[in-house]
Amino acid sequence: MNTAIRSQREVIRGMLADLKMPGALEAVDGILGDIDGGRLAGTEAITRLLSAQITLRNNRRLQTAMRSSRLPAIKTLESFDFSFQPSIKREQIESLHELGFIERKENVVLLGPPGVGKTHLAISLAIAAAQRGRRVYYGTLIDLITSLEEAQAAGQLNRRLSVLTHPSVLVVDEIGYLPINHTGAVLFFQLMNRRYERGSTVMTSNKGFEEWGEVLGDDVMAAALIDRVLHHCHLVNIRGNSYRMRQHTDLYRALQSDVENPAEAVRPPRQSKSRIGNRG
Ligand SMILES: Nc1ncnc2c1ncn2[C@@H]1O[C@H](COP(=O)(O)OP(=O)(O)O)[C@@H](O)[C@H]1O
Ligand SMILES: [Mg+2]
Repeated sequence: MNTAIRSQREVIRGMLADLKMPGALEAVDGILGDIDGGRLAGTEAITRLLSAQITLRNNRRLQTAMRSSRLPAIKTLESFDFSFQPSIKREQIESLHELGFIERKENVVLLGPPGVGKTHLAISLAIAAAQRGRRVYYGTLIDLITSLEEAQAAGQLNRRLSVLTHPSVLVVDEIGYLPINHTGAVLFFQLMNRRYERGSTVMTSNKGFEEWGEVLGDDVMAAALIDRVLHHCHLVNIRGNSYRMRQHTDLYRALQSDVENPAEAVRPPRQSKSRIGNRG
């Protein structure tokens, strides 16, 4: 390599360091090598350089978000197996992951029986948002209510409500698994009232809306809550088998091939398909 090219490379490296682009800095030698070897053309080289930086930045954002958002796991759209859950409209889920709903401060409600991927998809939306630099926060309904009750007892309710109103995406997971008392329901209503048209809330429930009155212990408040939630809302209604049970389904299938009359002899467990929010 001649001296002019070498010093030119040093200049590029110096610029990337100056611009604080460590991802691009790490990738630049390989990219320049591929250009010199005739394996990479201009546009593609720039794309690869910038992608390296964006990937690093997104990973860093995700690491920060994982510390502050209380997300319980890393679940992504890429790791979601749509073929397992044919009732889900793939285009709807992919379009939600483009995150326009956050700009428009719309909500997402994922309904369906246990194990069908509600939490997975709620988390993957939050992760996509975190990677784009949005503030996200995760809690089960019970966790969120407990934190509001504690804040209220400490005379800090307003502050806590503000903190929970701040994130662009709040995940409220597991609405309906555990009963909540009247105080809890009022606090949740207050929170949702504050977030209404200010930020997106992604909710999951194993109960259809018609049962939310029972969940909140108050039909009138549930109706008012649902009215706000549904005003700007994307509904994802999942009907299908539990992913957690898929090993058992495989086992059933394996057994089936050994049985002479498989269709009648052994059947994988099936969820009812009749209505939203089947009881878990
Ligand atoms: N279609 C799917 N593809 C890949 N993993 C899935 C799928 N559905 C569920 N899972 C996984 O199965 C487990 C249970 O799913 P989860 O989202 O917690 O269900 P739910 O919240 O509906 O009860 C999780 O580990 C999740 O990542
Ligand atoms: Mg769940």
